[in-house]
Formats: sequence, C-alpha cells, structure tokens
Amino acid sequence: MAANLATTGPAQAQTPVGLGVKKADPGAKKAFIDDLISRMTVEEKVGQLRLISIGPEMTHAQLSEEIAAGRIGASFNTVIRRDNRPLQEAAVQRSRLKIPLFFAYDVVHGHRTTFPIPLGLAASFDMAAIERMARVSAVEACADGVDMTFAPMVDISHDPRWGRTSEGFGEDPYLVSESARASVRGFQGPSVDRPDSIMAAVKHFALYGAVEGGRDYNTVDMSPMRMHQTYLPPYRAAIEAGAGGVMVALNSINGVPATGNTWLLQDLLRKEWGFSGVTISDHGAIAELLKHGVASNAREAAKLAIKAGIDLSMADQIYLAELPGLVASGEIAMAELDARVREVLGVKYDLGLFADPFLRMGKPADDPVDEKVDSRLHRQPAREIARETIVLLENRNRTLPLKKAGTIALVGPLADSGLDILGSWSAQGVAGLAVTLRAGIEKAVAGKARLLTARGANVTDDAKVVEYLNYLNWDTPEVIQDPRSPEAMIAEAVALAAQADVVIAAVGESRGMSHESSSRVSLDLPGSQRALLKALKATGKPLVVVLMNGRPLAIGWEKDNADALLETWYAGTEGGNAIADVLFGDHNPSAKLPISFPRSVGQIPIYYNHLRIGRPLTEGKPGNYTSQYFEEPNGPLYPFGFGLSYSRFTLSGLKLSASRISRGQSLTAEATLANEGPYEGANVVQLYISDSFASVARPVKELKGFQKVALKPGESRVVRFEIGEDQLKFVNAELREVLESGRFDVQLGLDSRDVLEQSFELA
Ligand code: NOJ
Repeated sequence: MAANLATTGPAQAQTPVGLGVKKADPGAKKAFIDDLISRMTVEEKVGQLRLISIGPEMTHAQLSEEIAAGRIGASFNTVIRRDNRPLQEAAVQRSRLKIPLFFAYDVVHGHRTTFPIPLGLAASFDMAAIERMARVSAVEACADGVDMTFAPMVDISHDPRWGRTSEGFGEDPYLVSESARASVRGFQGPSVDRPDSIMAAVKHFALYGAVEGGRDYNTVDMSPMRMHQTYLPPYRAAIEAGAGGVMVALNSINGVPATGNTWLLQDLLRKEWGFSGVTISDHGAIAELLKHGVASNAREAAKLAIKAGIDLSMADQIYLAELPGLVASGEIAMAELDARVREVLGVKYDLGLFADPFLRMGKPADDPVDEKVDSRLHRQPAREIARETIVLLENRNRTLPLKKAGTIALVGPLADSGLDILGSWSAQGVAGLAVTLRAGIEKAVAGKARLLTARGANVTDDAKVVEYLNYLNWDTPEVIQDPRSPEAMIAEAVALAAQADVVIAAVGESRGMSHESSSRVSLDLPGSQRALLKALKATGKPLVVVLMNGRPLAIGWEKDNADALLETWYAGTEGGNAIADVLFGDHNPSAKLPISFPRSVGQIPIYYNHLRIGRPLTEGKPGNYTSQYFEEPNGPLYPFGFGLSYSRFTLSGLKLSASRISRGQSLTAEATLANEGPYEGANVVQLYISDSFASVARPVKELKGFQKVALKPGESRVVRFEIGEDQLKFVNAELREVLESGRFDVQLGLDSRDVLEQSFELA
C-alpha cells in the first residue's frame, strides 16, 4: 500500500542514537554545535564539508572506511536503504565523534512516482497541486532514507534553447516564486525534522537560467537591477519559505563564478537575506574554478570557495586535499572553517539526525524487498496533478474532446514511450511503470472504439543527435531508432490514418533533448516528425497533435495546421491516463503557458514582461525605425498565460474600488468570470500591473496575482484581487525597493495579451 498522505502527525519520539539531543530550541542547538566543534580536529571538520556522490568509483566497503575515518559529511545518489544503512552505521558507530551523515538526492518532480516536469507543474497555476507533488515526493523519498533534495530548481529562463528550461517554473518571477514556496512547503512539510519530510536545497544560486545563448554552463552577464527585479526573487522566496539548503550555480555572474562569489554568498545570501542554512557547490564546481580561470591551482580554488562561503563541496577532492594545509598556514582562519562546519552540522541538527540518524531510513525489517514495485507509487495524485498541467493551444471546429467511438489512429515516436513521458531528472521513475499515451488511450476507449497504432517516424533522423543523446545518458540507451526508412514509417501511418475517423500524433522531443547539457540551436520539431505531420495533414483527416517537450518550441506550422493542439510537456508516470482524460473530455483542460512560445528561434529572448523602450512598435503599424524584425510580427506565437478550455469562459466588468489611493492604502480590482459553455471547468484569472511612468524604465506589465476558479456550466463568480504596496513597489537604479507615485494600469485577463484595463493614481 502507498503511504497515507493524510497522516501528517507529529514527529515520532525516537530513541536517541549516537549523540542524542533535543531539537527545536535555537539556544540548545547552538550550545550543542559549539561543543561538538570544540571537540573536532581540523581533519574531522574538513570531512564534514564533503558531499560524496556514491558511484562506481568507490566500493561501499571503501566508503564505509572513509566515513569511519571522519572524512565524509554527506552523500548523494543512492536511495537503497540496505546500501545506505551500513554507511550511516559507519558514521554513528565507528567514527570518533559519531556525527551522522545525511543522504541527498535529486527529487525534482517526484521520486518513485514521477509527476510532470516543473515547467508543466507551473502551467497548472495551481500551487496546491505543486505542494501536493512535493509532499508525495517527500513521503516516497523518506521511505528510501533520503534526507535532502536538490530542489526546487527556480532558475528563471527567457531562453528555451537552454535544455534546463524544463526543470524550472518558467519565465515569470511571481509565478516561479509562488511555485518555489509551494515546493518548499511540500518537501519540508510542517517541520523538517519529521520522518516524512525532506529538506529542500533550492538551486541554482544564482541566475543559471540566463546563460548566454541558452548554452548550458555558459557565462551570465546581467545588470544588478534586472537581477533584483526578475531573477533573484524566486531563490529568496524559497528561502523565506524555509528552504534549509542552497545549491550554488555553475556559471559566473558578471565575471565572478558563483562558486567563488563573496558578494553572492555572503553579502546577498547571508547578510541581506539572512539565510542560515547550508550552501552546496554544484557537481565538481570548486575544481571548475580553475577552468573559469580565477584560480591557478587546487589550493587557490579551495581558498576562494571557502572564503566565498561554500559549505559543502560536491563530488570533488579539493577541500579534503587543500583545507588542512590552508588552515595550518593561517590562510584560512579556524573561525572561517568553523563557520562552514557549523552550517553543515546545523542542517543535520534541523533534520533530526542527531536525535535519530536512522529517522528516515527506518529499521532493516521494514526495508522494501523491491524498491521498484508498483505498490510504492502514488498513481492517483500523479494523474490528478498531470491533468492540471496540460495546455490546450488550439481546438478548431471543436475537434476535442473526442468521442470514445469509431476508429482512432495513434501515431508518432512518443506515443508509446514510457521513458520519454517521465521527462528528465525523473529520479527513480521506472519507464515500465509509466502509462504511455497509447496505454492511456487503450484503457479509455476499451470496448468502445478501435485504436490503430503506428510509429510513423523516429524522434529524429539525425544520427549525430541520437549518438549525443545516448552518450549523455549512458546507463541505458535513451533513443532507440526504428530501423525502417522514414518513407516506410510514414506510409504505414498514412495507411492507418486513411482508415481512421481522427488521427492523434504524439510528437516532440525525446526527454534527453530537454535536459542538462542539452541546449539546442533550433526550436523546430525535428524534420522527421514535421514530415510525418505534413503527410498526416494531407490525408484530410482531423489531426490532433499531442506535444511532449520540455521547452517552448517554434510550432507555427502545427498551430496553423493541427485541428487540435495540446501541450502536455512530459506528464509523468500517469501521463498517458491524464492526457487521455483530456482528449476524451473526462477532464476539461485549464492549464496556461508559464513561458512565452516564440515564433522562431530568432525572437529569443522573448518574454511578456519586457521593459519599455524608446521606439516600440505599434501593433498593426509597422513603419521604419521602430523596434522589430522585418520578417515576422513582434509578439510570441502563444503568449505567457495562454491556454484554452472546452468551455467558453468570459471575463467582464473590471472595476476598481478606488481611482486614487495614498501610500499605505490598498484597493481591490474585481471582474466577473463566467462559464458560458457546456462543460464544467476551471480558468485562471490573471492580474497584471503596468507602471506607466517611473524613475526607471519598467516592464510593460507584470503578473501580480492569479486565481484558478472552477465553474459549472452557466455559473459565474466575481473574482477579487487586493492591490497594495507589495504589488506596486519595485527595485530602482540604486537597487532600493521603492514605491513611486503616479498612474498604474490594472489588467485582468485569461492570458497576458487579452486583458481588461482600468487605471488608478497613487498619490
Ligand atoms: C548537477 C546539476 O547541475 C544539479 O542540478 C544536480 O542537483 C547535481 N548535479 C546533483 O545531481
């Protein structure tokens, strides 16, 4: 049986093992850590700063010896309790000071159960759904003895060429910040020292999503005002929500690598934001300071990182090799070393590990016999959440929802791929346990309609791309090519289409195409799949295109030619059922794009909340010497916040409660949302504010609130937003948060483009 998620009672009383302490009292925590540090040798202190990736490099027996010698503080990458227990035993039974390890893992959008990728989760505009995803993930991860997750990933991205766009929550600071808070609440639960809570380590601090050209690991160069206005708020939101860890980004920021960046890790994070948890370098990042060219040897790299404020070094030997010498020579003061050690011990304390090092690992008798069994999954939440993430982009002639009758042809390389539907960073997700689109449709129409299937095309015909994707993920091949010729596959699909009443084509990217180190120069569907779609279109049969991808794609052709177009991202373990629910109208889609979809790669960066400029283009009046590309319209193909419903929703009657307010006052904006169509469903009412004149150029509009409202056919509801100083202030050129008098335009809409507008004055 899956764990009962409603069971969130107080942390169990544990028999203290090892050092045995009480928790929660900050004075007691400090006294405990002070005492421990006073008894540690330099080598033991350095050991606490090492986070080891458990891989084939070292056997578990060797690892146990290292741990017993006090040379390792924490580990990641194994989630098998039987394997990890001896490691914890080595720490708390054999090491001199018996300091427990903590076990970390990338629990990004699920653990055993895979939920939709974060970009999809953001599309739900449903913070309760995101929190639920994180809560379920925490429960599952705890059942595998995991104490910390390297999540949420809150890097804002304006550049879909960047493969890690899939791991984040999109382009908007408000939506990403809210998603960050919801994730932390879910992962950490009511208290992080409970056996069913894991600590969240927000990443990648900072600005990783702004790598130049969308090329992974590239440099970031950004104005401080933009950082504070747009890119930094989500990290801060996660920290305010209580995230106990911060993973530091691999990129440099205005010339200074984040891993050696004192301004970032001390001045901003610790002093300005008051962060008091642990900072973790990303994989091998301290050693990469040499490649960045800011350290000429390992000793300098270690010195830079520790002085900047990196507590835990992930997966390198540099702290181990260099810190003792640096302390001996006085280049690193003992107090500096102690400050870093204090944070690591602090999170172990907060996690409840000093009270019970086996808090999450439990007893051997309770170890799962088989970690990968279906009964450990949470399928119901996965299906319910996945349905909330699917965006309906087109629906000509009410093609959708489909009838569960007649003959349906299902084609496309992603139609029956359990691996791809999980998306990247799917932790312990098992492809064989995932419901593919084919399986979901088969179940939905069983006994009612005839389903014909054909592959139709490979994901790509580019052998080099296939080689790259398979190299990236070397454990098992990610992309398996059908050896038939493209023509033969298309011919088979077209023949099926000819017999069908409707064609569903599942196309997009294999999951590895939207992943770390998977940057693209083109956002088009690969040629093999576009050719398939063109051939299907030529049959004249209604064409439903189901997209699976982890980034905005340039889908102009699909927009113009598909009868219905669904963006399903990578929908996770229950993806096939969830998509079928939407296709056949068992669920009315309500998701909205969390990121703008460009017309072409040349428009990038394109995002709705861009700054005002001196020569803006007036829509419909091209003319020379205004800001535009002359081959294409300026706006996106699909704007931020866009998504259709099977029902007809209207928003009308925008009213402000005041036309003028003074500082310290607030006003309300309200409008009526009505469901005038035949289906029950939900829509997302979005509040945008536009600050017309200020001391600096301000965004043309900014999302400041949203409400997802469910309505029955014929029902309507007044939706209200409170607008006060929090929604009106901004970061000025001196990097101060200010409130400036003047006119503000309030916009309410069901997407960021079509809005109702009213203005008020702030005196
Ligand atoms: C590198 C990735 O950048 C980071 O996101 C991840 O958490 C670590 N590897 C650990 O897997």
